[in-house]
Amino acid sequence: MIEYVGVSKRFDAHPVLDHIDLTLKDREITYIIGSSGTGKSVLVKHAVGLLRPDAGRIRIDGQDVTDLNEAGWRDIRKRYALVFQHPTLFDSMSLLDNVALPIRKHQGLSREAARQSARDFLERVDMDSKADLMPAEVGPSERKRVAIARSLTLSPDCAILDEPTTGLDIVASENIDAMIRDLAHRMRKTVIVVSHDLRSIFGVADRIVFLYKGRIRLDGPPAAFRDADDPIVRQFVRGDPAGPMET
Ligand SMILES: Nc1ncnc2c1ncn2[C@@H]1O[C@H](COP(=O)(O)OP(=O)(O)O)[C@@H](O)[C@H]1O
Ligand SMILES: [Mg+2]
Repeated sequence: MIEYVGVSKRFDAHPVLDHIDLTLKDREITYIIGSSGTGKSVLVKHAVGLLRPDAGRIRIDGQDVTDLNEAGWRDIRKRYALVFQHPTLFDSMSLLDNVALPIRKHQGLSREAARQSARDFLERVDMDSKADLMPAEVGPSERKRVAIARSLTLSPDCAILDEPTTGLDIVASENIDAMIRDLAHRMRKTVIVVSHDLRSIFGVADRIVFLYKGRIRLDGPPAAFRDADDPIVRQFVRGDPAGPMET
């Protein structure tokens, strides 16, 4: 469970998060949505200590982690699979070896044992049949799935995926959506997804948190979102991800 209590963050004179109160529950698929540049990535980076709040507290499973040092955060981060928008794989290694590498490093397994374990992780994201291909030989959604498999090797409780379907075609996005559901329902992870892909949001989310001008404008299940009267929310649901024109 991740709690934000009155969290504010600004960059220079520009306020990005304005007294955010938010609790992200275990075993839920929560989508953090909002137009580009509203602070979605900034919000999730606070949950893993990549950014520190100017004011407010962050608690993880009841522990106040706001003032942890870097070593403390490194321990916390082991509980997360963190996949940002452009995950990178090693181009000169097969998909299998990309996943085997952190397994060898962190579990001290032999090369063969690590590769066997890596195959199991690739199977979870339905990429085992392509294990021996190189990153350049597969598509962007497949590379993303491999990056997610790699991030799962440390047995995290929670996966944070930042814009996992942005830039992918519909078929590739649907593959990622299916994998997100699988992470939550079969692997029993907490999943936090940053997105503005409406198709994915309505197809997958248990809960939607809509960020607008530094505040949470709406927080609820997809139905609450679809039926909202709020014109700002309606504009977003109609599919204008840029939001109202700024003047
Ligand atoms: N490390 C940083 N330093 C300065 N400004 C930043 C930093 N990270 C994000 N910002 C600014 O904060 C705002 C929100 O960014 P971000 O969370 O990345 O938006 P998005 O909702 O698209 O993920 C943007 O105006 C961005 O330029
Ligand atoms: Mg972002």
